Amino acid sequence: MAITSEHMTGRQRLLATAAAQPTDMTPVWFMRQAGRCLPEYRALREKHPFLEVARTPELAVEATMMPIDRFGVDGAVLFADIMLPLDGMGVDFEIRPGVGPVIDDPIRTTEDIERIRVVDPEEGTPYVLNAISLLRRTLGDRAATLGFAGAPFTLACYLVDGRPTKEYPKTKALMYGRPELWDALMTKLAEITARYLEGQVRNGADVVQLFDSWLGLVDPATYRERVAPYTAAIFERLRPLVPTIHFSTGTVQLLTEIAATRPSMVSVDWRLPLDAAWDIIGPGLGIQGNLDPTMLMAPWETVEIAARDVLNRAGGRPGHIFNLGHGLLPETDPDQLSRLVELVHSYRDE
Ligand code: CP3
Repeated sequence: MAITSEHMTGRQRLLATAAAQPTDMTPVWFMRQAGRCLPEYRALREKHPFLEVARTPELAVEATMMPIDRFGVDGAVLFADIMLPLDGMGVDFEIRPGVGPVIDDPIRTTEDIERIRVVDPEEGTPYVLNAISLLRRTLGDRAATLGFAGAPFTLACYLVDGRPTKEYPKTKALMYGRPELWDALMTKLAEITARYLEGQVRNGADVVQLFDSWLGLVDPATYRERVAPYTAAIFERLRPLVPTIHFSTGTVQLLTEIAATRPSMVSVDWRLPLDAAWDIIGPGLGIQGNLDPTMLMAPWETVEIAARDVLNRAGGRPGHIFNLGHGLLPETDPDQLSRLVELVHSYRDE
């Protein structure tokens, strides 16, 4: 790897990589690093319910900073949730422990879609914007601020089915069977999401990631017609502002189509080796990934081999952010993550 500077900050390192420029080390952060596995997070959660932490900027920033202080990662993903924009839409939801997001009054009819409000995040979710700007000031240059949102398809899964399922049957039935209704819903969600991310950028997000967590349920032809146009519209709005990352999992069948929505980088899971996935995405886009989060349950020696394999496959090419292929598991030993950051930061091409 070209050593261009011995003294890049985490923020510079991540932003240079997102711009496909060389860096001193490979930048690294972990999806879901801010909640889940840290004892200091559990202590915070004993005092405050999840949504109270997410809706209170000081508490959200406190949770966001925990993995920065402990692991020295290069990206600080805001402690928030993909469901928060529903506050602005006027759709009630709760996060039920052991279940996940639940909507008692799901969105299924023309009238339901019409009642979804399209508002600017200053009105709908001001606490998210305030949290981002407080985070930006707290972090300085230690790490890049990563804003995020759920992608329209994944938001639709929760809005239409109303709760987590394996197949999101009601959502897919609407997508296949009621194309006009689907278009009305997805158009609204794309507009809301674009405004929400633009607002995060105005308040200090350096990079934004779009989480399309349930996209693995979709075939390429349906993706092209019923999902990609809305995703592409969001990236088009953000392109002049900041680098963008598309996240999904279980989408080997879609990588070419995902790349065609033109994010700056594509986050890939572990189902393909990193170099094979990068070949499909193409050299024009960066890549994020792709250690299996379950790998972190193995002894360190095994984790080390797997992590080095990811780095070797990136081969020192600019444009690789080291990450997991999906969010880390609550039972992850934080010490494994500390060692992993050290390994990624000390890695040189082999
Ligand atoms: O690093 C972080 O954790 C940052 C904040 C963050 C949360 N959710 C906090 C959270 C992020 C980036 C998310 C994204 C998110 N939320 C996604 C996309 C990422 C993915 O994993 O695919 C999705 C699908 C959701 C929806 C959601 N929210 C689910 C399925 C759940 C329940 C299960 C769980 O633990 O993830 C939530 C609740 C939630 N969001 C929690 C946290 C820390 C757990 C609530 C608690 O602490 O009690």
